[in-house]
Amino acid sequence: MHIWKTCLAVLAIGWAASVGNVGRAAQKGKPVIREAFGNAAGTPVEVFTLTNARGVEIRAMTYGAIITSIRVPDRKGVMADVALGFDALQGYLGQHPYFGAVVGRYGNRIGNARFSLNGTTYKLAANNGPNHLHGGVRGFDKYVWAAEPMSGGTGVAFTRVSADGEEGYPGRLQVRVSYVLTDANELEIEYQATTDKATPVNLTQHTYFNLAGQGAGTILDHDVMINADRFTPVGESLIPSGVLAPVDGTPMDFRKPMKVGARIDASTEQIKFGRGYDHNWVLNRTGDGLQLAARVVEPVSGRTLEVSTTEPGVQFYTGNFLDGTVRGKGGVAYPRRSGLCLETQHFPDSPNQPSFPTTILQPGSTYRSKTVWRFGVQ
Ligand code: BGC
Repeated sequence: MHIWKTCLAVLAIGWAASVGNVGRAAQKGKPVIREAFGNAAGTPVEVFTLTNARGVEIRAMTYGAIITSIRVPDRKGVMADVALGFDALQGYLGQHPYFGAVVGRYGNRIGNARFSLNGTTYKLAANNGPNHLHGGVRGFDKYVWAAEPMSGGTGVAFTRVSADGEEGYPGRLQVRVSYVLTDANELEIEYQATTDKATPVNLTQHTYFNLAGQGAGTILDHDVMINADRFTPVGESLIPSGVLAPVDGTPMDFRKPMKVGARIDASTEQIKFGRGYDHNWVLNRTGDGLQLAARVVEPVSGRTLEVSTTEPGVQFYTGNFLDGTVRGKGGVAYPRRSGLCLETQHFPDSPNQPSFPTTILQPGSTYRSKTVWRFGVQ
């Protein structure tokens, strides 16, 4: 790649804000750094580095609005990158299971790759057996987005326009996704979209976490709590039946923290269909604001992750389809179950499930969704 061409634009945002605060805060987050990151089929790609006052560093690039790294401390202050992915753009341009990406227009599955809306049946790409997964053959994860650093904080906003008819979806959709890193070690992810025709929208973030860092093995010893009394059971091809089933007495019960590995190979039908955990939980919530969805603890490093969201559901996916063939950062292999995803979202197949909360965005309305990842130690 033309490293000599790399333009490093250090932005004054943040400095300006910090000047007035010198007396109050000893440290401030650094200005957002914007750098070239290669080309995707001839289109230049940029990467943004967000660093907060505590040295937490998150990088995200314009290809797929992908979060390429998340560097957070363990309980001794040792930093590690807790997101699976690649060192260079090249890896992301090849085959990989949505590492770090924003998925859309519809995150998760739509059964039989079709849905009906206002009397019209829309056919989508069947890219997962008979079903449509994560927006189709070329979802939002495979486009170069526009991006600008945000003023007044350590953040970056990505935008793109999804054309009317893209992957079979109706309506021209204007999308904005922003990442803001706070000094409380939180990443605030906000999604917005508007359309000119009614269309399903379900955006999520597909980062694979391993809180022990790169090359650390599986996530089976991570402890996970999911704030949900119910989940949406699926059939063999992972499409929900429409029932909201209690987790009580099943391997899906994460209301108290449990080792991921404790019941992941249980001989229940749901675990067999998912080849482990690959299901949507119905979050317990009061009101429609931010609600704690899940908490993850990696006991050796002490690193923790808390996920809060305005969404009604979370897909907990334990990387069951990783198989060690993808070589990630530093050349490490990512074996089966070496990363976990907590994809906050509306329920899978909602366009075909009248009893689920609707995912249809109407012209004149704005889709808004927010998720916060809070990194800590214990
Ligand atoms: C899905 C999995 C899929 C994975 C990667 C997850 O969101 O639920 O079934 O294999 O994404 O593609």
